[in-house]
Amino acid sequence: MTIKSTINADLTHFNTLGLPVIAPRLIEVFSVDDLFKLSRENFFEKEKPFILGGGSNILFRKALTRPVLKISISGIRVQEEDDNHVWIESGAGENWHNLVSWAVDRHYGGIENLALIPGTVGAAPIQNIGAYGVELEQVFESLEYFDLQDYLVKSFESENCEFGYRDSIFKRKLKGKVIITTVTLRLQKKNHVPNISYQALKSYLDERNIINPSIRQVFGAVIAIRQSKLPDPAMIGNAGSFFKNPVINQSAFQLLKEKYPDMPAYPLDHGQVKIPAGWLIEKAGWKGRRVGNVGTYDNQALVIVNHGGATGDEVYRHAVRIQKSVRKNFGIGLEPEVNIVE
Ligand code: EPU
Repeated sequence: MTIKSTINADLTHFNTLGLPVIAPRLIEVFSVDDLFKLSRENFFEKEKPFILGGGSNILFRKALTRPVLKISISGIRVQEEDDNHVWIESGAGENWHNLVSWAVDRHYGGIENLALIPGTVGAAPIQNIGAYGVELEQVFESLEYFDLQDYLVKSFESENCEFGYRDSIFKRKLKGKVIITTVTLRLQKKNHVPNISYQALKSYLDERNIINPSIRQVFGAVIAIRQSKLPDPAMIGNAGSFFKNPVINQSAFQLLKEKYPDMPAYPLDHGQVKIPAGWLIEKAGWKGRRVGNVGTYDNQALVIVNHGGATGDEVYRHAVRIQKSVRKNFGIGLEPEVNIVE
């Protein structure tokens, strides 16, 4: 396929919040060769494009003034195998859930807990996607990227990516400086032990008397849990968890725990404690509450939804209201997980 270019593009279907944002131009690339071609035309220096994957973790506050470059590099292949493992290379533009289904169909274990996460494969390492006890970094082997400073294709191993909780070097030092083109994962071919440590997943399987679940059973359970809690972006605009779960220190935690004995919390290293932002937002009175065209989801307060007709700025203002309210009630600052594009 050749490079596709559209003038005055409506991005409504290119961001899962469903915001009707206009970009002066939308350029879609299908291969690394397309990127080389654009660099020869000095496209990157001249146009300073905004790089878009699946648009599932983005809030466009207003119309864009620069072109959008959509990465649609496809292809999934087995790169290498040994007795127990298989290395899978996927184009950055593949849909993440399709990759998970592809792996489950072949009984390759490791990403079944990450079923139904919206977005593309290339976006997965940027925020080190995670769900139900598994984070991408646990199966991540390497990636290739197109360097926007010297227009060379380079590769990164896991240790170069500086993965953290919903975080990586691509959200920080390399933000806007690289285009991820392929991602390689190391999956388990034999003797895979599914991770069912996450409480909601464990309870779901226990209730159905599933003791040693297969990869497909875990995949099915995760899909069922997600569908019951999280809105489908095809039905109601959203970008998943809007904020990260905040981390507080032991003394702040003790004070809050005395006041709210039912507050869920996950202990981390160094006496730090992670508190579910969804719980804080619910307690502050925002769960299911609607303001104009925006609101928080009925079943998961951490998800901001577009009830239809919302603007980017409306969503943004709603997020700020929630942040202020949580700070006032609990003294805790919430950091957005979603990338806010000004
Ligand atoms: N909770 C509430 N009220 C709510 C929402 C949650 O009290 O409205 C409580 C729950 O009862 C539970 C706790 O908060 O005790 C955690 O809730 P949940 O299991 O739904 O997970 P989460 O911490 O809110 C995180 C991820 C999700 C991921 C789930 C499952 C972040 C920011 N979010 O949510 O990821 O699917 O765990 O692993 O870490 C995403 O990143 O976009 C995303 C959806």
